[in-house]
Amino acid sequence: MPNPHPYRLDTALSRRVDRSSTWLSGQKYQGCSPSPTRRAPRWGSLPLAPDRLNDYGLHSSENDGNRCPQQPLFTRLTDYSPDRPWDQPQDDPRLRTEYVPNLVDLWPGQVKTYDPDLPVVGLPTELPSPGVSASAALSGQRNGAGRLDLPALTRLLFYSAGVVRYVDLEDARGRRYLRAAGSAGATHPLELYVVANGIDGLPDGVWHHDPIEHRLVRVGAAPSAGPSYVVITGIPWRTGWRYYAERGYRHLWWDCGSLLAQLLALAESAGIPAGLRMTFPDHEVGALVGADGRDEFPLAVVALGTGEPVAKAEGTAAAGLVGTNVLEFGLVTSTQRASDVDSWGAGPVPAGPPVEDPGDTDVLEALILRRGSTRTFAPAAVLPADCLRWAFAAATRPLPWDAGPSILRHRIFAHAVQGVRPGLYLWSDGELIAERLGDLRDEATYFLRAADARRRQRLHRGAFG
Ligand SMILES: Cc1cc2nc3c(=O)[nH]c(=O)nc-3n(C[C@H](O)[C@H](O)[C@H](O)COP(=O)(O)O)c2cc1C
Repeated sequence: MPNPHPYRLDTALSRRVDRSSTWLSGQKYQGCSPSPTRRAPRWGSLPLAPDRLNDYGLHSSENDGNRCPQQPLFTRLTDYSPDRPWDQPQDDPRLRTEYVPNLVDLWPGQVKTYDPDLPVVGLPTELPSPGVSASAALSGQRNGAGRLDLPALTRLLFYSAGVVRYVDLEDARGRRYLRAAGSAGATHPLELYVVANGIDGLPDGVWHHDPIEHRLVRVGAAPSAGPSYVVITGIPWRTGWRYYAERGYRHLWWDCGSLLAQLLALAESAGIPAGLRMTFPDHEVGALVGADGRDEFPLAVVALGTGEPVAKAEGTAAAGLVGTNVLEFGLVTSTQRASDVDSWGAGPVPAGPPVEDPGDTDVLEALILRRGSTRTFAPAAVLPADCLRWAFAAATRPLPWDAGPSILRHRIFAHAVQGVRPGLYLWSDGELIAERLGDLRDEATYFLRAADARRRQRLHRGAFG
């Protein structure tokens, strides 16, 4: 069925990008010059008293970095603490300090590039839609048994990782592409690969998703058995290039979660069985898609079908080019490597049962196209309590994944929610459990990490934080 909310793909894809000049094999950035340090701090302490920090499981200045050995090393070195500006690194030789963030000359690029002689498949621009409303999809309503053919696959790729908008910058970066899923700092550090095994309309193989050209590039041969699957990789330099540096490692995972939320909802709403695998043979999966484990490494696998995915490569994958000026953050590489495993985890558990659908909204695809970040908040807005409860019930519905029950706890600052007294709540088994009541806007602001006082002021007045 044609998409009821047709999106002119050609709007976003209207300009072909000449990237031939970036095809340089194996070139590495060897060091930064001339400035020896990271950017100077831009703003100072945050308005949260150290004695309140334990309420949120944070450490105080007396208990910071090097003085808190029970914290994992990576967390210790990349955590924020209230007495230290957030973009000023800890003083530790394991962190890269001779690096200047946001240098346009070192701009990491937006998508991997490949030898132009590799086979390509243009993706369709007429996309199917099961016509499921966004609220029904997020509530977990399924829509029969879907078939994975090239248009259905394209729907998954486009609405989770496709280019949906662009902005033309006046500096050397030129056109910046914005994607269907948000990304911290708009760094868009994720790459998608499809390991295709029996997808109607797509020859078997390992295919790189090129969201700018809206096409797939064949980078290798598919394993001879198992279901088709999507591999999501992360490129730490794209997040590190910004002032996030080593902390950019965390942004890879946050972005991956944002993308997966869309990908899983899209698959479920179309009745395509999708199982998220977080435990997989890192080296094998990396080799299969041509990720070197340093400048790019696999973050997640989404099996599209049942059965055990197979990652044994039938040959050597084309590695492509991550960028021309790739700078490695050694701590990121070693953190990732320290958690590598060499086999698949248990099969995924089924998704949790649907929650009640609050009703009529746009179809999922239309909502995704409408999605976008805003820094403009309605100061007088009041959120209905049902809206808050549904959002958390839907968002915490168990995932179809291999990692078992979630270990996350969710705390909510409610400032202006109808029928909910302002305060700090724990979301537990579908209930809001009050932990501390009162006007906590100033404390909530601590977590928003706004970049300047004026913006903080605006965020301050949001309905809830
Ligand atoms: C994990 C994650 C963290 C983000 N953190 C912030 C933030 O701290 N401040 C902010 O203004 N925007 C934040 N954003 C929004 C991004 O800046 C935004 O997604 C990006 O600029 C792309 O724009 P779009 O969401 O309109 O497509 C975040 C987005 C994600 C996915």
